[in-house]
Amino acid sequence: MSFIKLAGVDKDYALGEARVRALSGIDLEIEAGEFLAVWGPSGSGKSSLLNLVGLLDTPTRGSVQLDGVRTDQLADDVLARTRARHVGIVFQSFNLVPVLDACENVMLPLQIAGHSARAARRQALARLAEVGLAAQAARRPDQLSGGQRQRVAIARALAAAPRLVIADEPTANLDTETGVAIVDLMHELNRRDGVTFVFSTHDPRLLERVDRRVRLQDGRIAAQAD
Ligand SMILES: Nc1ncnc2c1ncn2[C@@H]1O[C@H](COP(=O)(O)OP(=O)(O)OP(=O)(O)O)[C@@H](O)[C@H]1O
Ligand SMILES: [Mg+2]
Repeated sequence: MSFIKLAGVDKDYALGEARVRALSGIDLEIEAGEFLAVWGPSGSGKSSLLNLVGLLDTPTRGSVQLDGVRTDQLADDVLARTRARHVGIVFQSFNLVPVLDACENVMLPLQIAGHSARAARRQALARLAEVGLAAQAARRPDQLSGGQRQRVAIARALAAAPRLVIADEPTANLDTETGVAIVDLMHELNRRDGVTFVFSTHDPRLLERVDRRVRLQDGRIAAQAD
């Protein structure tokens, strides 16, 4: 059984009276522990696909399974809980809370999950150390570089020990060198802990560094390569 399986998935968006087809006939299986990139031109459906894989959205047609369970038929609150337990999310624009320091940002999902402040702080500091930011734990986002902010975001995504991290163009706001360093860091965490990473990118240089590539074209999978 695959970790994640999309079968016959279409995604339409309503646009006024019209409907826009963002994804058509997507069949995709992702095994636990994969390090996978989705790529393709602007508008090809990368974000739409990541939102489905990360349980942030549901398909218009077709099914999305996690561990063999159809998630597209779960009630919203059950879906939200499943997502909170299993999925970490890294955003293109980092999405850190500006008034909180790095440690407090990483603590957030842990406190939402019910950990005490003390336990959350201990775990957050450990995660920050893993991404090389032990010395920056007390800095606010505006006191950090772009690459450091994205590392805080990765520490936050990993804080509650998810099995899957989705990252929509996590390096788009970074220079190439920093972007490569961020992908290498994600790969290291993938190899060490077996966390599944699915990210999207426009950058062909980052694609050299992944284990598997899925190329989208006009909402369809055009090619899959190992
Ligand atoms: N909320 C929405 N409402 C209407 N149409 C949408 C919506 N979100 C995406 N689309 C359309 O769906 C298609 C796929 O969009 P998507 O954002 O998935 O592409 P993308 O590959 O992530 O593009 P980019 O590289 O620019 O981020 C596009 O035609 C887009 O205009
Ligand atoms: Mg996108």
